[in-house]
Amino acid sequence: MTQHISYDSSSSVSDAVDTRRSLRAFLASDVPRDTIASMLQKASRAPSGTNMQPWKTYVVTGNTRQQLCDACCTAFDEQSPGYDSEVRYYPERWFEPYLSRRRQVGWSLYGLLDIKKGDRERTHAQHRRNYVFFDAPVGLIFTLHRDLATGSWLDYGMFMQNIMLLAREQGLHTCPQAAWADYHEVVRKVLPIQPEEIVVCGMALGYADPDAIENTLVTERVAVEEHVDFLD
Ligand SMILES: Cc1cc2nc3c(=O)[nH]c(=O)nc-3n(C[C@H](O)[C@H](O)[C@H](O)COP(=O)(O)O)c2cc1C
Repeated sequence: MTQHISYDSSSSVSDAVDTRRSLRAFLASDVPRDTIASMLQKASRAPSGTNMQPWKTYVVTGNTRQQLCDACCTAFDEQSPGYDSEVRYYPERWFEPYLSRRRQVGWSLYGLLDIKKGDRERTHAQHRRNYVFFDAPVGLIFTLHRDLATGSWLDYGMFMQNIMLLAREQGLHTCPQAAWADYHEVVRKVLPIQPEEIVVCGMALGYADPDAIENTLVTERVAVEEHVDFLD
């Protein structure tokens, strides 16, 4: 596996998979609208049950991005309305081995940033960076019709992964962000999201800041033997 972040464009699927990281610091450099449109068009080649194509994406840049970030940062600072995601992304009760893996990534990121356990101010400030898309100039907000079923959530993941891999082909990076679903009520005030749509997730898209320490984070994966059974 590549150990260093790649700022070049990927020329193979393996390279794109290998160099995709959730990055948490972006440059202000704009991403051309045509590039975004072309990536989203290609990403929609993702398979979906009976070709339902359940995805819907709001691309936010410029003033709209600023309004969205301002509104969500204010709500996050006030913790009002607080966490009210319609998406149950995480288990209600954490258990092993997932709890340890979750802690590991948290400690690794906060370790790099030298944020000590119990430093609520800096923890808040780092979490808050979700709501400025980690300074990425492009934010994506994904929604799904609330009457759709579990299969469409699988389809959605494939669509999102396509976006993240296609971004690498363009020399771009991403961070998928469940954090936006926590503030869907605020998001709804800024974007023309219909009541029947659930805010699934967000994503930061842009050029990586090569000087940001948090972008050096390389998360671990368990060995293939631990998650695969080969049965002859
Ligand atoms: C659907 C989804 C939602 C995520 N939400 C967040 C988020 O809100 N904020 C964040 O910083 N990272 C978020 N992540 C990134 C994960 O922490 C990251 O994928 C994981 O630690 C593995 O690291 P890697 O993506 O760099 O390989 C999310 C990832 C996924 C797939």
